[in-house]
Amino acid sequence: MTSSTNLQKHQYDAVIIGGGGAGLRAALQLAESGVKVAVLSKVFPTRSHTVAAQGGIAAALGNVAEDKWLWHMYDTIKGSDFLGDQDAIEYMCKNAAKAIIELEHFGMPFDRLESGKIYQRPFGGMTQNFGEKPISRTCAVADRTGHAMLHTLYQRNIRANTQFLIEWFALDLIRDADGDVLGVIALEIETGEIHIIQAKTTLLATGGAGRIFKASTNAFINTGDGLGMAARAGLPLQDMEFWQFHPTGIQHVGVLITEGVRGEGGYLVNSEGERFMERYAPHAKDLASRDVISRACATEIKAGRGVGKNKDAVYLKLDHLGEERINKSLPGIREIAKTFANVDPIKDPIPIVPTCHYMMGGIPTNIDGQVVLEGNKVVNGLYAVGECACVSVHGANRLGSNSLLDLVVFGKAAGDHMTAAIKQNNTHKTLPQNAADATLARINRLAPNNKNTSSTGENVAEVGDAIRDTMQNHCGVFRFPDDLAKGVSEIDKVAKRVKNITIKDKSLVFNTARVEALELDNLIEVAVATMHSANARTESRGAHAREDFAERDDAKWLKHSLFYKEYNRLAYKPVNLKPQTVESFEPKARVY
Ligand code: FUM
Repeated sequence: MTSSTNLQKHQYDAVIIGGGGAGLRAALQLAESGVKVAVLSKVFPTRSHTVAAQGGIAAALGNVAEDKWLWHMYDTIKGSDFLGDQDAIEYMCKNAAKAIIELEHFGMPFDRLESGKIYQRPFGGMTQNFGEKPISRTCAVADRTGHAMLHTLYQRNIRANTQFLIEWFALDLIRDADGDVLGVIALEIETGEIHIIQAKTTLLATGGAGRIFKASTNAFINTGDGLGMAARAGLPLQDMEFWQFHPTGIQHVGVLITEGVRGEGGYLVNSEGERFMERYAPHAKDLASRDVISRACATEIKAGRGVGKNKDAVYLKLDHLGEERINKSLPGIREIAKTFANVDPIKDPIPIVPTCHYMMGGIPTNIDGQVVLEGNKVVNGLYAVGECACVSVHGANRLGSNSLLDLVVFGKAAGDHMTAAIKQNNTHKTLPQNAADATLARINRLAPNNKNTSSTGENVAEVGDAIRDTMQNHCGVFRFPDDLAKGVSEIDKVAKRVKNITIKDKSLVFNTARVEALELDNLIEVAVATMHSANARTESRGAHAREDFAERDDAKWLKHSLFYKEYNRLAYKPVNLKPQTVESFEPKARVY
């Protein structure tokens, strides 16, 4: 019988869960400082979802027109609908240029302007001089920026001797009686063996959880694993009601069509051939922020001005850019449109719909990546960065091309803080005797011969569909009071079904069925937190648009939500409106 005491144990100074941009940037910082670091990833690192980021990474380099980090900061705060923490946003925007130069020096093959400087394109909500006019601030590698970044960071980590545990799946955090985190329990997928990974510092960099929705631009691996681990360890999840719907996912398949298309001059049209964004955002038009554009697309479709057989999409038109420009700046988009929409965009428009893309909420952290509790008390030994974290630089709505920036800026910051913490206190704490007991019980419930579940047990795929249907139907671009309330009771019922999952057949081979079942344990934590948090927030802000409370309500709701798994409890904490060195940007009406 397997128990905590006879599991294989490994020791590292630092363990990083997730091999995407954030995890690799942090790992590099640690490895180059001589720290013994392991990156544990459930897929080969260069298959992490960062690889799918297309349009670019924002920084006020001013290569195309005059730019300032303060303008970038203002745009990000406005984009966040004033829910972003202004100290963190200042830190990110101020460090952006340095982060880009660093990537360039690592060998990232950025596109170039005629002058030889890094190419920059316009992106939604990015402006010159506090909203005066759109600016080219997004640095790009054609429409494959994430791909280039991920490969660059992976190669640098190989050079720095970072150790990789590839196709390992992290299951739970190890917390001792003091509440300190001492590492993780993990499944080696190939062998099915469970391991204890003891570490002085543990970093969650597990990415997003967009697979809680049916229509999603996210990879199948985006199952909120870090959030599930945090929730089961008793930690809160912050601002989970805020999910970004990217305006341009390909209809029916969800594959992303980058905002870079609109940055290069593409635009949206309805069935009447009208460029409708001129009505919704007269100034920024197709380069307004994503929440605004997604609502406009949904409104056009609802008003009967959608395109296609069922009038349930709108068109993204780019043929006027010409074949040469499309082939040079948007080659991946042409390929994707041909493959997934069966249209060649040099001739025909692409049918698109708003599609779940990004989780603004996550595990609460400070600027150093340390996980924080209410009252800003840190959880010793635990860090989080990237999409799984909420620092919070994106607030209620993220601006496109700020996510790759978030990964590298806060990945580096966390790596630096972890290095210093390890150097200051270079001993491992004693592991609790029962470190893995709860995890082993969770795994054992899935066994085909489990008497409690095998006869009545639920099927993984069916319960997964129930999560995705519930979220899609009750928590979409527009949110309605009855749907939200019903969504809460539905998702709570699905959560009970997740506890009763079993695997009935020989599919335990290679552990794929078991991994899918364990991923469901994480997806459900994210879905439950999202439904409850959305139902409770009685205002509209950023991506959270309620039909019954259509206005932003700063008097009551200028605050972050914190959802706790235990008793589905919600608490709130103030937004930090105080930047580090500059004046605050006070909340005001948000128009584009
Ligand atoms: O549209 C895009 O290329 C996506 C970028 C992002 O989410 O930052």
